[in-house]
Formats: sequence, C-alpha cells, structure tokens
Amino acid sequence: MAGRMAEISPQIKKHKGLPSEELLSFEMQFLREGHLAGVLDLQEQVAKSLPSAEILRLHSGRFFEKALRAERAGLGIFTGDGLVAFSLICIPPRERNLGSEVGLGEEELCKAAHLQVVAVHPAYRGNSLQRRMAERHLQVLREMGYEHVCSTVSPQNPFSLRNFLEQGFVIKALKVKFASQWRYIVYKNLLRPIAIGPEEAAVSLSDIASQLELLESGLLGFDLRTGPSGILVAYAREGGSTESLHLKEAPPH
Ligand SMILES: CC(C)(COP(=O)(O)OP(=O)(O)OC[C@H]1O[C@@H](n2cnc3c(N)ncnc32)[C@H](O)[C@@H]1OP(=O)(O)O)[C@@H](O)C(=O)NCCC(=O)NCCS
Repeated sequence: MAGRMAEISPQIKKHKGLPSEELLSFEMQFLREGHLAGVLDLQEQVAKSLPSAEILRLHSGRFFEKALRAERAGLGIFTGDGLVAFSLICIPPRERNLGSEVGLGEEELCKAAHLQVVAVHPAYRGNSLQRRMAERHLQVLREMGYEHVCSTVSPQNPFSLRNFLEQGFVIKALKVKFASQWRYIVYKNLLRPIAIGPEEAAVSLSDIASQLELLESGLLGFDLRTGPSGILVAYAREGGSTESLHLKEAPPH
C-alpha cells in the first residue's frame, strides 16, 4: 500500500521493562492529511505526560495540516493501538531557517531542512522509535538533495538530545527561543560526517553559562555521558590533526 514501508525488526515492546510488557507488531508509514486528528491527539497525550511543558514545543492543527500535505514529510508508527509515534520534517522559509543560526552561508540555506517535531507515546518509549523515524527522514532528505539538517532540543530533554548526538548531529548553538526557552541547535551534514577533535571539556547539561562560553569559543557538543554528578555534555573542536578524531556518523541500531 502507498506510504507503507518494510522494517527489518517488525516488533516493538509496549510498556517496556514493566510486568505488563507486551511484544507487538508495528508498521512505519508516511503520514498524510487524513492522519491529522491522530497526530493532534497523540501530541496532546504526550504533552500531558511531560514533567515540564518546556520540553516539547506544541504545534497547532493549522501547522500540522499544512505540513502533512507535503509528500514524505510526516512519519508515523502504528500498532493495534493506532498511531503511537510521529515525526515530521519541514523545509523552513528563509526567515525561520535554523541554518542561519549554525553559520551556513546564504547560498546554503536552500539545502537545509529541519527535523521539526517528534513524539512517542509513553507506553512505547525505549524502542528507538525517534531514531528509527529520524533515519528514514534523513534517507528521504538525501534522496531529495538536501545537505544540511537542523533541529532544536531543550537542555531538559537528555533523551532526545542523546538520540540526535548518536545519529551524528553536533550541538552548534544554545539560544533562547520559543517564549524564553533555552534550546540547543543541533546540526548534521548529510554529505560529510563531521570530524571531531579530542575532547576539551565536559560540563553539566544544566550549566548553560559554561556551555555558552564553550560554544562561543568555537567548540561543538558531540556526546552525552552520565557521571556521579549527573549528565555531562562533552565538547571538542571540529577537525584537528591527531588520530584521536571521532568521526560523527550514526551507528546502525
Ligand atoms: C524524546 C522521545 C521521542 C524519545 O522516545 P524513544 O525514541 O522511545 O526513546 P529511546 O528509545 O531512545 O529511549 C531510550 C531510553 O530512554 C528512556 N526514555 C525515552 N524517553 C523518555 C522520557 N521522556 N522519559 C523517561 N524515559 C525516557 C526509554 O525508556 C529508554 O530506556 P531504556 O534504555 O531503559 O529502555 C520521547 O521521550 C518523547 O516523545 N518525549 C516527549 C516529546 C519530546 O521530547 N520530543 C522531542 C522534542 S526535541
């Protein structure tokens, strides 16, 4: 059927890790306008489950309606419960293009796309659904000839940030956006994996001031790790000439 696609591992766990855990078949499909009600309903359920409203920027019905008209822009994960996760790419207008916030030149902005929004129903977390959908989006964007992909992530959202960094994105900026909320701006080049030099600093995810200084001095955030004092973000410079370079490319999951 149009819009459907094969998945190598066609089963996911509902209530993963709980006594009620179940193994269920699922399907990843491209979304269209007819999925609007399901997307809005899921966005509402996910928003209600969050510890802080800052984590997820809510999108309006009008926004989704327009976005879902674009071919291959929306992806959904379906089980017997219906739509349990969605993700959306967006080709931004010039004035909202995050490429200009990560240093892309004017002529590059038309090759930049956004991973706009992703949400997984709480009962289905832990199945790498964000990463599975992002992989498919990146494949679509490559096929469409895009080179640059940007997204925003809250410093209060280590789950999403970890997924981005593990898929080869780097933190290029940290800014106040969306009604005074801090957001990392993460970036990935689809044609050239970014080579990251040896680690120069690791600071707490919640230490905004130190991260602003590191980014200001030209470092990029490239890894998350959990230490005794909480979650740390590792920073390094792009490029370098030693063997200790990390090549930022997504490992297969
Ligand atoms: C961010 C999000 C999409 C990740 O969902 P996912 O793809 O299911 O996450 P993963 O499979 O990578 O989860 C990895 C681990 O983190 C846990 N986890 C993921 N999201 C979590 C959350 N919001 N709260 C608590 N634990 C979470 C998973 O249970 C899993 O744990 P395990 O390794 O012990 O099994 C999901 O948390 C979500 O929908 N959050 C609300 C919306 C949001 O933040 N969107 C992103 C905006 S940038």
